[in-house]
Amino acid sequence: MPDFPAGFRWGVSTSAYQIEGATTVDGRGPSIWDTFAREPGRIVDGSTGDEACDHHHRYAEDTALLAGLGVSAYRFSISWPRIQPTGAGPALTAGLDFYDRLVDGLLAAGVDPVATLFHWDLPQALEDAGGWLNRDTAARFAEYADVTAARLGDRVKLWITLNEPFIHMSLGHGMGVHAPGRVLLFDAFPVAHHQLLGHGLAVAALRARTASPVAIANNYSPVRPAGDSDVDRAAAAAYDALHNRLFTDPLLGLGYPDAPGVDPTVVRDGDLDVIAAPIEVLGVNYYNPTGIRAPEEGSPLPFEIVPLDGYPRTAFDWPVAPDGLRELLLQLRDRYGDALPEIQVTESGCAYDDAPDAQGRVDDPERIAYLDGHVRAVHEAIGAGVPVTGYFVWSLLDNWEWAEGFTKRFGLVHVDYPTQRRTPKSSYAWFRDLVRR
Ligand code: FCB
Repeated sequence: MPDFPAGFRWGVSTSAYQIEGATTVDGRGPSIWDTFAREPGRIVDGSTGDEACDHHHRYAEDTALLAGLGVSAYRFSISWPRIQPTGAGPALTAGLDFYDRLVDGLLAAGVDPVATLFHWDLPQALEDAGGWLNRDTAARFAEYADVTAARLGDRVKLWITLNEPFIHMSLGHGMGVHAPGRVLLFDAFPVAHHQLLGHGLAVAALRARTASPVAIANNYSPVRPAGDSDVDRAAAAAYDALHNRLFTDPLLGLGYPDAPGVDPTVVRDGDLDVIAAPIEVLGVNYYNPTGIRAPEEGSPLPFEIVPLDGYPRTAFDWPVAPDGLRELLLQLRDRYGDALPEIQVTESGCAYDDAPDAQGRVDDPERIAYLDGHVRAVHEAIGAGVPVTGYFVWSLLDNWEWAEGFTKRFGLVHVDYPTQRRTPKSSYAWFRDLVRR
């Protein structure tokens, strides 16, 4: 592996609902994922995040795993309903206490705490009032950022406002595959705008409480048109605008792109200035490229997603394409030029059906190959002048993978859910050695 610049941040990521469990302790309110997971047929194995990895009780053991890995940073998310059970009002001290202990434990272990404020677990009470379709949720989010940073702002080293607002809009509100399960197709645009507005308002709230840098973590996927025809190219451009530009152009001061669903009547005077508040870091979550072709006659969508041939596949059936990461990093640089802030890859990883062997070891050579390829792609992008300063593996632990329940394992550490026993996989040792070097 070639050398990375001194100070490059190596980390791993998780999110609250996917690992914490303990959903009824310390006054935590219900989230939209508690509700959604209980609806029949929503989660492939019928599971919920009630226990997940029991991290809320086992955070000290998990911090020791981070220390053993030698990473310089840990990206976790804060559960909004633990801080404000109904999404409004004063912060619950007991809810904040948990993250306070976690943050202090990380610092003691020499690991920078990187906190995401919203990784999809909206308080159910806010959803009952319209959720992200309701403009008021943006103001509530800024208030939550304020009360959280009042307690943790002196120690969290990087704040991330939102995780993948595109996925939360498209899978949660467009297609109904994730919570809250709405099927609005392109009428989900207010969810985009109100998340971005919430981001901008939260940036201002964080500035008043902390000197630490602020970021957002977007999901990106380079788009590959299925053919050379004009209609395939037009379909690919439409999908690219939606997935890769809708949440980045306005953040970087360019306003909304010409993307399907954009409705200017939702945007009020001054909103675009709030959204374009400067941020220090753009978080990039990357898993795979997307194949697109022109839609069939009568389709409600201006594109159709098609499988990409010729790639190895993960257990999620996602194509393994490290080149796509280099391509998208270069594309961000070419698209945004000087307006592009420093980039950190805030998620990168893969699911495989990892299981312990007779000796209890978990060998995952595919994950090592996957990560090796993606880390090299980042190195090439840096060599080409893209300002990438960090790389976080998704994920530290096997965990509760949303609609896939416990069926997809993304961890460097295997979790046996019935016993909650943690077993570092061979990829854990590989990443530890990489970080050490
Ligand atoms: C990302 C999510 C993360 C996890 C990975 C596999 O889209 O941010 O929570 O589900 O995918």
